[in-house]
Amino acid sequence: DWTMAEFRATKIAEIREQVGDGKVICGLSGGVDSAVAAVLIHEAIGDQLTCVFVDHGLMRMNEAEQVVTLFRDHYNIPLVHVDVEEQFLSGLAGETDPEKKRKFIGKTFIDVFEEEARKIGGADFLAQGTLYPDVIESVSFTGGPSVTIKSHHNVGGLPERMNLKLVEPLRELFKDEVRDLGRELGLPDVFVGRHPFPGPGLAIRIPGEVTKERCDILRKADAIYLDEIRKAGLYDAIWQAFAVLLPVKTVGVMGDGRTYDSVCALRAVTSTDGMTADVYPFDAGFLTQCATRIVNEVKGINRVVYDYTSKPPGTIEWE
Ligand code: XMP
Repeated sequence: DWTMAEFRATKIAEIREQVGDGKVICGLSGGVDSAVAAVLIHEAIGDQLTCVFVDHGLMRMNEAEQVVTLFRDHYNIPLVHVDVEEQFLSGLAGETDPEKKRKFIGKTFIDVFEEEARKIGGADFLAQGTLYPDVIESVSFTGGPSVTIKSHHNVGGLPERMNLKLVEPLRELFKDEVRDLGRELGLPDVFVGRHPFPGPGLAIRIPGEVTKERCDILRKADAIYLDEIRKAGLYDAIWQAFAVLLPVKTVGVMGDGRTYDSVCALRAVTSTDGMTADVYPFDAGFLTQCATRIVNEVKGINRVVYDYTSKPPGTIEWE
């Protein structure tokens, strides 16, 4: 009979065996996978682990603070928080091509991570929250022809460059099992239950040019949408829900004035591993309530639409 408690104990023994008295670094993304991997590894080897959180400024509302608080204050895990928002936003300025945005973010992330790793005196191992579907997906992304749909953001290339061996304790697990393990390790429910968030962050939810101002607008709309979803008790029934800020302006009317502002799209899907997804069928009243609040409360948005596309043929993220 296989339980998470046994899995935890087995993995801890394996990590100790693999790492010995070596040093491990782990990149935190703010997501569940890297957090669960880090907490598990910390339990196994304590302060031989250092976490590095590359904060690219493309996180959701309050997300960076939550990660820092959880690791530093709740778990007391050594954490280097690098604020590189400026570097990411200036590099993204003027760029509108989805793949170029992804590649810039991926490369810059690795550069920053590598520099921080050197500052702490290097390491022998790199810890990653790789899951079973990631292992499959890196073989063939859609199960179809081997074309790159999107360059996925990860620290590929870094282990060779820095001569690091990999520690990947979650490689056999699916997302729901990682959540169970997270709960087993005492991670707060709201953290463990979080929807997945892509490495390139809000940059791929802002088609067209990414600016600080557009990130701030999107963060507000996204927070309202998620607030409504939580209040309706729907958060856990949904795989991912998020807002997208479109590079399209339309005319509206508010009070007795004309508005000319951006369109916001809302997306929500059900899925088990992100490889395929179905649209979440909100009732119309719920979406109307979200649209009303977003237009009333977020300056810069005057129209809200809902994305009804499944995956395939759509992808979950817009870029
Ligand atoms: P797509 O948009 O390809 O997304 O249908 C499938 C799942 O993967 C997430 N995603 C990413 N996760 N780095 C990540 O760690 C990435 O570059 C990335 N791009 C997409 C997406 O949020 C969804 O859960």
